[in-house]
Amino acid sequence: MCGIVGYVGNLKAAPIILDGLKRLEYRGYDSAGVAIMADGEFNVAKQIGRVAGLQKTVAQKPIEGTRGIGHTRWATHGGVTRENSHPHLSNNGRIAIIHNGVIENYATIKKLLESKDFTFVSETDTEVLCNLISYHFDKEPETDEAGSRLLASVRRSLMHVQGTYGICVLSLDAPDELIAARQGSPLILGVGPEELVIASDVAALVSRTQNVVYLKDGELVRIKGTTFQISTMDEAGVSPVIDQVTWTVEDADMGDYEHYMLKEIFEQPAALENAMRGRFSADNSTAKFGGLNLTANELRGMGRFMFCACGTALHAGMVTEHLIERFARVPVECDHASEFRYRNTPLFTNTLFFVISQSGETIDTLAAMREAQRKGFKVLAINNVVGSSVAREADGGIYQHVGPEIGVASTKAFTSQLLIGAMLALYIGRMRDMSVRDGTEYVTALKGVPDLVRETLKTADHIKGIAERYSRFNDMLFLGRLELFPIALEGALKLKEISYIHAEAYPAAEIKHGPIALIDPECPSVFLVPQNELFNKVISSMQEIKARGGPIIAITTSDAELPEGLADEVIVIPACHEAILPIIATIPMQLFSYYVAVTRGCDVDKPRNLAKSVTVE
Ligand code: F6R
Repeated sequence: MCGIVGYVGNLKAAPIILDGLKRLEYRGYDSAGVAIMADGEFNVAKQIGRVAGLQKTVAQKPIEGTRGIGHTRWATHGGVTRENSHPHLSNNGRIAIIHNGVIENYATIKKLLESKDFTFVSETDTEVLCNLISYHFDKEPETDEAGSRLLASVRRSLMHVQGTYGICVLSLDAPDELIAARQGSPLILGVGPEELVIASDVAALVSRTQNVVYLKDGELVRIKGTTFQISTMDEAGVSPVIDQVTWTVEDADMGDYEHYMLKEIFEQPAALENAMRGRFSADNSTAKFGGLNLTANELRGMGRFMFCACGTALHAGMVTEHLIERFARVPVECDHASEFRYRNTPLFTNTLFFVISQSGETIDTLAAMREAQRKGFKVLAINNVVGSSVAREADGGIYQHVGPEIGVASTKAFTSQLLIGAMLALYIGRMRDMSVRDGTEYVTALKGVPDLVRETLKTADHIKGIAERYSRFNDMLFLGRLELFPIALEGALKLKEISYIHAEAYPAAEIKHGPIALIDPECPSVFLVPQNELFNKVISSMQEIKARGGPIIAITTSDAELPEGLADEVIVIPACHEAILPIIATIPMQLFSYYVAVTRGCDVDKPRNLAKSVTVE
């Protein structure tokens, strides 16, 4: 949560920082602010609401200066007010800070500072940290150079801090410098020819440079002019590794689409093509992955798989659970990362652990991974963001390769996770009992996914019409079975997160155990009803709903024949292989929730209370 950007260079800092913040807005959009250092003072502009509002303010009253920091906030400590917006200044006005994360022991530190006559204008943990740095700065020997004092005081302050942080700190006493540090919240340094930019996400950097250094937890960077030095909390020097970002600014732009979400929905054929590229065996009978860091024998020997993730990514794990059990006949468990990290669950010795995370920064997923690693398990990651914390800490993994996902509601990242899950089931299945013939058929199906997604996207106008008719409802049920139950969960999640309609999902047969009590003409049900072995059972569930006056939207496959008049609305998707059906069935769910949200006038790309990357617990 929260996007942060710092700039030190020769150009005007404010427009560069604001452009970076705009690109990071998906991390939080409660308020935005900048502090630019010029002529021995901080010029601070901050306000509630979106970055665009702040850009307007700054355009009317330009801020000079070539060093600065900026922040777009997702509120944790303290309400959405101007006072709580970042950057925060120390009591003496000489230190400015931006922060992404949570200082858990801020109340204790605040008490200590209050006893030393510090006062606070905000309710934030960040202002406490700012004054703690100021307090330590004043205690550093004055004979030392101001930059060294600043670095030492940041380090000393962070030693007292429990929690997570990605911070950038400026001091009027060291006008050439910027200190940044991270623990549990991402920070990336962009190294341009004559400028250094620091941000919580590469999206804010790619318009300036492709050369980046991913800072690790416990590292601090001291930027001085256009040079930088990285060190640890123990003051050990760190040799920087400069990586190349493969994303471009265009990848992160909206193009001609009205929303990122719509762009990302329609990007899926190409994105899925990228996720598959180079990942099939020469004889096209199985998948192959470069980064698992496991021999075939080690993988073959695994008696169990465990998937941990959050939200949408967890739904991808649940589908993968089904596919691995079905096609590879190996038991799989799936758990909320946020629960796993505290459950101390007993694990079988030869379990291979997977985490799934688009951003690779979700704190609960990271914590689940660390917990499994602590117990001695290898953890592989399915992840989209190269260089993310998950990617760096995992023992191996599979990149999704779908480019930046900016819309807060995950779409292309989800379908690529489903695709990779299906490929994994094939890979493991072929190591066990799946025949060459079945493997070849499976690969053919996977290779056909982009075209089938393209075909399914043609239903957009039809779905838009349905969405317009159904956008007035306040409750909906999503029902599916087997590998489509997680897709029902995903459909419900998508709808609630962007349109604020209350939606719940169940395996279709479960409705009679309680949820059917909700059914009346004001509670529509979305049924996933493909032609498969449970077709008639799902039809029975639909009849139970129909008998109670519940409106029905059916998403069915082209080879199925629904009883006349049973569904009020029908969306037909192409009949396809069971392993790829979840991907194809997801497309109408995404379009439906998108068009419902647009019809209701919701801010699709920035739903209320949400942020793309959940880096706080
Ligand atoms: C919903 C959504 C979230 C994320 C979840 C995990 O559309 O995007 O539920 O899936 O916050 O995020 P990652 O995959 O980045 O770990």
